[in-house]
Amino acid sequence: MTKITKTEEPSAMKHLHMFVIAGVLALPVLQNAEAASTEGSAVFTRNCSVCHTFNPPPKTAPPIGPIAGQYHRKFTSKAEGVDYMVNFLKTPSKEKSIMPAGAIERFGLMPPMAGLSEEDLKAVAGWVWDQPWGGTGQGTGKSKKQQGNGDCQ
Ligand code: HEC
Repeated sequence: MTKITKTEEPSAMKHLHMFVIAGVLALPVLQNAEAASTEGSAVFTRNCSVCHTFNPPPKTAPPIGPIAGQYHRKFTSKAEGVDYMVNFLKTPSKEKSIMPAGAIERFGLMPPMAGLSEEDLKAVAGWVWDQPWGGTGQGTGKSKKQQGNGDCQ
């Protein structure tokens, strides 16, 4: 006597469930990605990216990849490289610059990052140091191998 035509509702429910599940799965992934990137990248976006691109072509300053490469060629430990970079960022000078001479000729000297705290400077310098370098974009895992042939690039 009574017809039960319930075919539509369960399928709609199924879709709803799938959306909810997708949402729940996607959320932690996004959060993790954000937590994994140190604060250094945020400092960079706010204070450095106006002049520095990450990869060539440059805006008004050398891209970060080649800069990271230069620091890795010059310093063997991250602590040394970060210290040196923090000092440079506070009071840049031609004498302190470790970039090839052409960099300052082409772009001019970098202005001092006076508005940033020591903590921010260290975070951003550490982040720059950790960036893929040497032109291959392969990540920091290959740093050791690339160090030897840095001058050939
Ligand atoms: C107003 C533009 C500008 C901003 C903002 C800026 N830079 Fe630079 N930066 C330059 C220029 C131009 C050079 C190339 C000349 C030089 O080395 O001073 C440079 C060079 C550098 C170098 C190479 C230093 C060397 O040995 O010569 C590093 C490292 C660096 N920048 C990091 C940063 C970081 C980190 C920030 C953000 C906290 C930043 N820069 C913000 C313009 C800028």
